[in-house]
Amino acid sequence: MNQKQLAGEKAADYIEDGMTVGLGTGSTVFYTIQKVGEAVENGLRIKGVSTSASTTKLAESLGIPLVSIDEVDQIDLTIDGADEVDPKLNGIKGGGGALLFEKVVANASSKVIWVVDPAKKVESLGKFPLPVEVIPFGAQRLFRYFEKQGLSPVIRNKENAPYVTDSGHYIIDLHLEKIREPEQLAAWLDSLTGVVEHGLFLNGADLIVVGEADGPEIIE
Ligand code: 5RP
Repeated sequence: MNQKQLAGEKAADYIEDGMTVGLGTGSTVFYTIQKVGEAVENGLRIKGVSTSASTTKLAESLGIPLVSIDEVDQIDLTIDGADEVDPKLNGIKGGGGALLFEKVVANASSKVIWVVDPAKKVESLGKFPLPVEVIPFGAQRLFRYFEKQGLSPVIRNKENAPYVTDSGHYIIDLHLEKIREPEQLAAWLDSLTGVVEHGLFLNGADLIVVGEADGPEIIE
């Protein structure tokens, strides 16, 4: 079993009958969702809240009942992947472009679990480019502003055109190498007009399941 599968499947153990479950996006949580699909087939009753069009498609193909975020007051548990995690349970997310819906779902959740392979563990965040979701209007201006600040921005592309998120936005990836003050950076990004969301999820998980070669490691 590969490390993503190990982490993804282990996290499914935390799901209980009757729960409303946030379903993250990516190749690790894919295994959680598959496991949930099997459990639903065997009688588990849950309601899923999807974080992306791709997760909706996967969950529907597995027969997992879905409700929209607006239909629920609180999500019991959300399971999602991450691109980098530090020992303080901070993370960078958005490598798959779903950061905005992922943050909305996480913020509505009583408990959040991240599922990662060991390569995602770091002492400090920043080696993975930080995704910043921006509205298309003025995106080039924001890009130039980030450039002037020395943040090495790159507009994410797909097939020679800007990558477009599920909500019609662009993503600017900041190549920072090391984020010394994540709280300060998050607050600054939050303050910029045209920035919709960023991939810093500070104190973003209650628990992380790491798919170590010799079995799942739980960080909490
Ligand atoms: C998508 C995400 C993903 O959770 C993150 O990119 C991790 O993906 P993977 O499990 O495929 O490595 O934040 O926006």
